[in-house]
Amino acid sequence: MGQAFVGRAAVVFIWTTIPYRMEWRYGMAAHKVIAMDAGHVCQNLYLACEAIGAGTCAIAAYHRERMDELLRIDGENEFTIYLAPVGKV
Ligand SMILES: Cc1cc2nc3c(=O)[nH]c(=O)nc-3n(C[C@H](O)[C@H](O)[C@H](O)COP(=O)(O)O)c2cc1C
Repeated sequence: MGQAFVGRAAVVFIWTTIPYRMEWRYGMAAHKVIAMDAGHVCQNLYLACEAIGAGTCAIAAYHRERMDELLRIDGENEFTIYLAPVGKV
């Protein structure tokens, strides 16, 4: 989606979710918790990057179907939820 810097990063973290693992227990509230989990883990990546003099940028604007294809996940039971490129700043 026009964010070429992601493709040029030294490494890209890609998080996926399998909603059922949350839904069987939390029902409709599962989706809120999945989003919170993703936010927390990415925030920790920001902290880790800061500690080693690197940088990251949370990415929610990406082509989900293409990411799922790239990772060979089905896009229904498991799909990409968040990305974060990491590199030197
Ligand atoms: C959930 C979420 C999604 C984001 N998606 C993108 C994105 O797709 N592309 C991007 O460049 N930045 C993305 N960002 C980063 C924000 O643009 C950035 O954190 C915001 O502009 C604040 O930056 P600043 O404090 O350096 O001004 C995202 C941030 C969050 C929390």
